[in-house]
Amino acid sequence: MKTKIFDISYEGAGVGQVDGKIVFVPKTLPDEEVEICLKKQTNSFAVGEAEKIIKENPHRVKSECPYFVECGGCDFLHCDYEYEKSLKTKILASELAKVGFDGKIEYQPSDKRLFYRNKVKFEIRDNKLGFFKAKSNEFLEVKKCLLASERIENAANLVRNFLQEFGMKEAKSVYIKEFNETVTICFLFEKNVKNWQKIAKKLSFFGNFSVFFAFGKILESDKTQIVCAYNPQILNKTFMGVKAQSSISAFNQINDNVAEKLYNFVVEKARGKRVVNAYSGQGLLTYLLSKECKFVYGIEYQKSAHESAEKLADAQNIKNICGKVEEQLPQILLTDEISCIVLDPAREGCDKAVLKCIVDGKIPEIFYISCNFSTLRRDIVFLRELYDIESVKIFDMFPCTASLETACILRIKSQI
Ligand SMILES: C[S@@+](CC[C@H](N)C(=O)[O-])C[C@H]1O[C@@H](n2cnc3c(N)ncnc32)[C@H](O)[C@@H]1O
Repeated sequence: MKTKIFDISYEGAGVGQVDGKIVFVPKTLPDEEVEICLKKQTNSFAVGEAEKIIKENPHRVKSECPYFVECGGCDFLHCDYEYEKSLKTKILASELAKVGFDGKIEYQPSDKRLFYRNKVKFEIRDNKLGFFKAKSNEFLEVKKCLLASERIENAANLVRNFLQEFGMKEAKSVYIKEFNETVTICFLFEKNVKNWQKIAKKLSFFGNFSVFFAFGKILESDKTQIVCAYNPQILNKTFMGVKAQSSISAFNQINDNVAEKLYNFVVEKARGKRVVNAYSGQGLLTYLLSKECKFVYGIEYQKSAHESAEKLADAQNIKNICGKVEEQLPQILLTDEISCIVLDPAREGCDKAVLKCIVDGKIPEIFYISCNFSTLRRDIVFLRELYDIESVKIFDMFPCTASLETACILRIKSQI
C-alpha cells in the first residue's frame, strides 16, 4: 500500500496515513511517497516499513551505514545535515508549542556529524558485538558503527577479535570509553562471576588498554561492583584545558565538541551569580562555573562521580555535595540566596520535589539542560505558573539520531 509522508514524529519517523489512521514509517522523510507494509496496528495508529520510496524528498541521501534500516541507533542517516537540523527543530517546536512556547529555537550544530562518540555501549550475544534493533530487544550484530570515534572503533575491533578467540559468554555488554592515554573496556556481567580472575588471565591480549569487569545491572549504579581486571591506570581526561581524574562508571557527555559549546554557553550566562549546579556529574561544569561565578554548589548522588568532582574543587567558592538533589537543594536554599540553578537531569527529568523547591524558593533563573524533551515539557508544565521561557537552544550532542539536547532558560515572571 502507498502513503504520503506529511510530518515527522518525535521519534524521527515519517508520519503518513492509511485508511484514515496515522501510520509511522521509520526512515522516511516528509514530502515522500512511500510503498509500505504494515508491521503493527493498534486502535489509534499503525507502524509501517518502507518497501520502496516512490517519490524522494530532495534532501534524501544514501545512508553510509549498512545497518541503518534495522539498527535502533540512528534515525537520520538518510538525509543531509541541514535537513536533519530543520527536522529536529520542528520536533522540538511542536513539543514546546504544547506548553505555549512559540519563540525562536536556536541551533548549535556539532562540528562532526559522524565519529563523534567518545563512549559506546555494545551488547554481546554469542561472542559478537552489536546493538538492539529499533524498538526491540532483538540483537543485531554490528561490525562498524559510524558514530563511534576512531579510537573507540579500534578498541571495539580488538574486543571482537578477543571474543572470537577466547569467548566470554558470561558478559552481557561492553562499554568502551576514551580517556587521554587509554581507552577503557568494561565488560558488564549481570551476575557475580566467581572465577573472574581466571578469565582475566587472558586479558593481556588488550595490550595498553585497561580492562574492567562490572558486576551488576547497570554500570552507573553505586550497587554495581567494579574491578580493574587488567592494566590499572589513572583515567585522566583533559577537556577544555582542565585535567580531571575520571571514573569508569560515572556519566560523561559523549560528544566533546558540543559539550564544550554547551558548557561555555552556561558559564557565560551564569557569570557573576550564585549558582547551584544540580545533577552535576563529575563536576567539570561546576569547576568551570567556579572560575566565573561568585559561588557554586554541585549536587550529585553517584559516589564515584562526586569523588572526581572533589578532586577538581580547588577554590573557596565551590562546594560539591554528594546526595540527591531533592534532599540537598532545600538545605542550600535555607542558608544561601541563589540567583540561578542549572538543572541537567538524566532522561527521567526532575523529581517533583526539586521543582517545588525551586518554585517555593523563587530562584530567579533556571538553566534547564535536557536530553529528553518529553520530560523537559512535563517539568515546564509545573514551572510555568511562575516562570516564562526566555530562550531555547538545541545543542546537537547526538547527530544522526532523534535524541535532542536542549538548553532552556526560564526566568521568574515578575523579572521579565
Ligand atoms: C545527564 S547527567 C549530567 C552530568 C553533568 N551535568 C555533566 O555535564 O556531565 C545526570 C547526572 O545526574 C545524576 N543524578 C541522577 N539523579 C540524581 C538525583 N536525584 N540527585 C543527584 N544526582 C542525580 C546522575 O548520576 C548523573 O551524573
